[in-house]
Amino acid sequence: MKKLPYEWLEEIINLAAEWVVAVDRDAKVIFMNTAYCEYLGTTQQEAFGKDVRDVIENTRMHIVLQTARAEIASIHTIKGSEMIANRYPFYVNGELVGAVGAVMFRNAEEWMAYSNKVQPLMEELDYYKKRFANELKSKYSFEDLIGTTESFMEAKQLAARASTSQSVVLLTGKSGTGKELFAHAIHGASTRSVFPFVRVNSASIPEQLLESELFGYEEGAFTGAKKGGKKGKFELAHRGTIFLDEIGDMPLAMQSKLLRVLQEKEIERVGGQGTAPVDVRVIAATHRNLEEMVKQGKFREDLYYRLNVMKIDIPSLMERKQDIPAIAAVLLRKLEKNFDRPVITLSKEAENRFLLHSWPGNVRELENVLERAVNVMDGSVIRLDHLPLYLQEEPSQEAEGRSIKTPVAVMPLKYTLQKAEKEAIQHALCQAANKTEAARLLGIGKTKLYDKCREYGL
Ligand SMILES: Nc1ncnc2c1ncn2[C@@H]1O[C@H](COP(=O)(O)OP(=O)(O)OP(=O)(O)O)[C@@H](O)[C@H]1O
Ligand SMILES: [Mg+2]
Repeated sequence: MKKLPYEWLEEIINLAAEWVVAVDRDAKVIFMNTAYCEYLGTTQQEAFGKDVRDVIENTRMHIVLQTARAEIASIHTIKGSEMIANRYPFYVNGELVGAVGAVMFRNAEEWMAYSNKVQPLMEELDYYKKRFANELKSKYSFEDLIGTTESFMEAKQLAARASTSQSVVLLTGKSGTGKELFAHAIHGASTRSVFPFVRVNSASIPEQLLESELFGYEEGAFTGAKKGGKKGKFELAHRGTIFLDEIGDMPLAMQSKLLRVLQEKEIERVGGQGTAPVDVRVIAATHRNLEEMVKQGKFREDLYYRLNVMKIDIPSLMERKQDIPAIAAVLLRKLEKNFDRPVITLSKEAENRFLLHSWPGNVRELENVLERAVNVMDGSVIRLDHLPLYLQEEPSQEAEGRSIKTPVAVMPLKYTLQKAEKEAIQHALCQAANKTEAARLLGIGKTKLYDKCREYGL
């Protein structure tokens, strides 16, 4: 860097700190800016070369020279006013040559005004830090992935290996098999775990908003854009992991943009001028068959290959039925805690019925069935009659697929249809994560579903 002219340096010092004094090894003043001189009723010429103690009352510059230790934010009374001063020893070529003192605030009021501004900001920062940490830290670890079936163990081992790598992970598996749990566990066990875990659900964000959600936008990018712009999920996940959930539902136009990010490792905000590098590990998940979608032209083939670096297929509950008792036990412990109930157990008959069921909604369905049971039971054992109707049915019918049960005595058609409708709704509610999804599964509107639930007391 070019050497700055002396006047420049002095101006810079004046701007950088309110009042500045520098002394040599013998505590003689070698520099004092004009503002400080004025306050003390002296001039630069007068002060130069004098012992600092004769120029500034209550000074501690000579002490800093002795201890060679900086004094930060120390209270310094001059002419009856309390000031906040910082004092530093300074070295040239490793040798202590003097000390510098700077008065940052000329009085307590100035300090208070500053502090009053900073304090709420610090509190706000603290609040957001805590919230951020809670929301962004991964909630599950490998210990939470319950199951000892071979196919499940394989998936778990692959996931453990993925947590030591930086490659893209693609999690596949039917709905409710635990894809999100796996994503959390991989992030949590990786070196990125101290950084954010950010989830984006491509299926739930309207197509026109997805780009700005993922990549952020600049101020004025569109009407209603926030002042100062907004960070996208990729930026929020910086140094951490982004979990692109339901990737199979991502519109084709966004797929191309995502591919670009994966290739270039840089993002461009909506309405932005240039690109910015991002350091983010990508985990994608879907319950859809991406190969099939590629064939149908609904998913970009090049993106599929980009994502398919480490593919982890999570088996359905049907494929790992022997894990059901262990998973149920863990889920029951969780329910006991949430509902503040003493130990709850599963009766043998209920467990046997579980082993016969096909669990199209996988672990989520099991979770919902158990929660429902805990809500309707009064003792501490879950019996068959605490299970939803469709599970109480004869298991032989279960195996044949869930056909409408033909009543032994012929009932009025209206009754039979209502019964079938109620069961279909109950089943959907058990499989789905929420009512919106249940309505989607049933192919009806959400309002209609709510009406029906009320009608059948569900
Ligand atoms: N191995 C497991 N052990 C304990 N709980 C599990 C396990 N797998 C899944 N769960 C529970 O099942 C529920 C569904 O899991 P998750 O949300 O990860 O499913 P998903 O595969 O992402 O489903 P979808 O495709 O519908 O989003 C969660 O509430 C989770 O707590
Ligand atoms: Mg999911």
